[in-house]
Amino acid sequence: MTRTQVVMLLMSVCQLSIMHGQECPSRQELQNSLRQVHKLLSAHETSYVQSLRTLRKKINLLQTSTARQPAKPTNVTCPKLEAPANGKKMGKVLLPGHEVHFLCDPGYELVGSETRQCKESLTWTGQQPVCKDINECAPSPCVNGGTCENEVNVFVCICAKGWGGATCQTPVPTFFITITNTSAATAAGVAGSAGSAGSAGASVSPPATSSPLVRPSHCTQTQGTTHCTCEAGYTISGRDTSVCTDIDECELFHMGQSGRLCVHTCVNTPGGYRCTCPAGYNLTRDGRNCKDVDECANRQHNCTKDQLCINTYGGFQCVKVECPRIRNATYVKTSPLRCERNPCPVDNRACSQAPNSMSYHYLSVVSNLSAPRVMFRVSAMRMMGDTLRFSLLGGSRARRHFTVQRSDRQTGQLMLVSSVQGPATLEAEVEMSELEKRVLLGRYITKVTIFVSPYEF
Ligand SMILES: *[C@@H]1O[C@H](CO)[C@@H](O)[C@H](O)[C@H]1NC(C)=O
Ligand SMILES: *[C@@H]1O[C@H](CO)[C@@H](O)[C@H](O)[C@H]1NC(C)=O
Ligand SMILES: *[C@@H]1O[C@H](CO)[C@@H](O)[C@H](O)[C@H]1NC(C)=O
Ligand SMILES: *[C@@H]1O[C@H](CO)[C@@H](O)[C@H](O)[C@H]1NC(C)=O
Ligand SMILES: *[C@@H]1O[C@H](CO)[C@@H](O)[C@H](O)[C@H]1NC(C)=O
Ligand SMILES: *[C@@H]1O[C@H](CO)[C@@H](O)[C@H](O)[C@H]1NC(C)=O
Repeated sequence: MTRTQVVMLLMSVCQLSIMHGQECPSRQELQNSLRQVHKLLSAHETSYVQSLRTLRKKINLLQTSTARQPAKPTNVTCPKLEAPANGKKMGKVLLPGHEVHFLCDPGYELVGSETRQCKESLTWTGQQPVCKDINECAPSPCVNGGTCENEVNVFVCICAKGWGGATCQTPVPTFFITITNTSAATAAGVAGSAGSAGSAGASVSPPATSSPLVRPSHCTQTQGTTHCTCEAGYTISGRDTSVCTDIDECELFHMGQSGRLCVHTCVNTPGGYRCTCPAGYNLTRDGRNCKDVDECANRQHNCTKDQLCINTYGGFQCVKVECPRIRNATYVKTSPLRCERNPCPVDNRACSQAPNSMSYHYLSVVSNLSAPRVMFRVSAMRMMGDTLRFSLLGGSRARRHFTVQRSDRQTGQLMLVSSVQGPATLEAEVEMSELEKRVLLGRYITKVTIFVSPYEF
């Protein structure tokens, strides 16, 4: 009410009294009323000045804050980030304070920032990472003069003549024989661990070659000495130096000291041998090792659209990620391998104690892995409570193969405690729970499925 309004009101009170045939209030009464109005006005004046002051304060605040941000930002998110080639990006939220994580495919190593955070300035911390092919040749694995060729996830040794094996550690058998005229004794040399050769007097005659496993020898005479030699892969095994017979390299080098000739199966051939691999593997260029075929990448799988293809050593698995069905809680899939709980109704204890998230991970390993070893790590991106606990769910069945340990304040690791013979599929659930003053803030479950190959490669 303004001052004029008050005066007008007072005057109209007087006028009303006249109209109703009453006398105007006495001078005394009028003075009393005026005093009261004065008081009222003072009170109004105070509050009016007070609110003006508040208003000015607010305007000042607004002014300074707009001065700080001259142009009102149109974007409230950081720019979109791309996944690196041969890698993955995890995390979709581009708001300040949120993080995006990067992972490289097997065989690649990350160079740059593993984690980038969206800053208040709407830029990202760190540098865009790249996935570099790990140079498997760096430790110089090829011995005996072999040259190394780096391929994705593996290296291949191109061996010097006379050597074989994954790292050229195995001598390739080359047999030769020298016979002198004067003595019946022969010098037989076998480059390798096993030695076996015949001895005989010299004779040069065309042998009967009915079988590919038998070949004529090549003899030359120089200064009264006859030298008989066989083609690579053959040897003179009897008294008859004119005949060379095939060497069974598979037999000879079966579990030799310097390693097996073939990582899987060895097939003897006339003058040589050949390694074969089980289905799901291709022979490597050195002809002795087996390399897993990635059926998922090569589209050789028959998984349906709603399934994920997981490449395993020697095959593939089709998996379907389904969110948990828990009474009083509902889940939504937030990524192909993650489900998050929908907000709970107030006071629904069963819902608020259900896991906040369920993540799924699939690992492929070879048979007979040495143990103990770390299989998987679970880490809290950020902590709200004062305590994190890591535990293994699934009772004694899970404990036969696994244990969960803490590796640092925010990280737990799933350890394989005993080596496993494949083929097998193992499952483990790791729970991370967050507490604040012993009150549960949240439970996060990671379900790890491990596909163990039937083979050690
Ligand atoms: C807002 O984002 C768009 C694309 O996301 C970009 O082209 C534009 O430059 C951004 N504007 C500002 C003011 O950052
Ligand atoms: C070697 O043997 C051949 C045939 O048996 C014979 O003709 C030759 O004289 C011998 N040479 C020597 C040096 O004994
Ligand atoms: C593996 O071998 C199969 C045939 O056995 C062939 O079709 C495929 O291209 C090979 N893959 C690689 C990567 O060499
Ligand atoms: C998919 O292929 C595998 C062999 O690779 C076969 O055992 C399986 O029955 C196939 N499944 C379907 C649904 O065709
Ligand atoms: C589960 O939900 C129902 C209905 O929403 C509610 O009545 C019940 O109390 C809940 N159970 C628990 C254990 O909170
Ligand atoms: C498993 O590997 C160990 C060496 O790491 C070996 O001694 C053992 O024979 C292997 N077991 C099988 C069944 O291959």
